[in-house]
Amino acid sequence: MMDIRALGYVLIESTDLQRWEHFATQVAGLGVAPSPSEDGVLYLKMDDYAWRIRVSRGAHDRFACAGWELPGPAAFADAIRVLETAGIDWHRASRSECAARRLEEMLWFTAPGGLACELFHGLVLDYLPPVTSTGVGRFVTGYHGSLGMGHIAAATPDLEASHRFFTAVMGFGQTDHLQLRMSHDPADPGQGLHFLHCNNPRHHSLALFESHDPMPGNLVHLMLEVPDIDAVGAFMDRVHALGVKIVTNLGRHTNDRMVSLYVETPAGFLLEYGYDGVQIDWSTYLPTRSTTTSHWGHRWGRG
Ligand SMILES: [Fe+2]
Repeated sequence: MMDIRALGYVLIESTDLQRWEHFATQVAGLGVAPSPSEDGVLYLKMDDYAWRIRVSRGAHDRFACAGWELPGPAAFADAIRVLETAGIDWHRASRSECAARRLEEMLWFTAPGGLACELFHGLVLDYLPPVTSTGVGRFVTGYHGSLGMGHIAAATPDLEASHRFFTAVMGFGQTDHLQLRMSHDPADPGQGLHFLHCNNPRHHSLALFESHDPMPGNLVHLMLEVPDIDAVGAFMDRVHALGVKIVTNLGRHTNDRMVSLYVETPAGFLLEYGYDGVQIDWSTYLPTRSTTTSHWGHRWGRG
């Protein structure tokens, strides 16, 4: 199994980089990364890592790829052997591609269920603060970014195949299985969601649920965590002031205890913005089965 440490970065495709830059810097509080430079590419940063989001100009507005971080070259070589054994068709990034992204080694593949993934190690830390006029300044990513940038929730047409791959091949651990019923009909089987963690204390870095509706890049949402309620409140003020579409009201999730709200990004997927997510010692953790997403709030369609 692989030793995936964190959600290191995400890649986004955009028809309008300026719109993304506005959303990222004025709403989300991310900084434009000053160091990497490629034509038609916007790099965004949120912590000591040189960048965490790469937005490239393209034909569509969509989530493009999740970048999973390995701890070094030995783990990278192990990961290649694991992919080979699992029969996954993978591609190694060229030296120039790695240099442009300021990392050591990288490969990409499409996971069963359709989520595009990259594996990498050695993305440099430049220790530059993410400078924006919002004054956010800091996100919860752990010491030297070890918690990763946040989490993603992805849709898959085959939940079991996708879940099997991420646990048995990628080595993610089970945190919670949520069986969500949308109706009071006892015959309604509901909707299953898996919450999976990698080798860091964040409650989950990946959530998977089954959907046969096409979504942009299969992504449902990207979660970014800020240190306190004031940073969430200030985000809500910016969302209202700039007319960003709010998808849920504020709520507290049951399983990771995150207090958050969801808004629409220019790529169609949602941004969950929250604080107070739990961090867990996996050596004593018992995976849970839950039946509801939230203690309060998170009502869809409520601004
Ligand atoms: Fe989430």
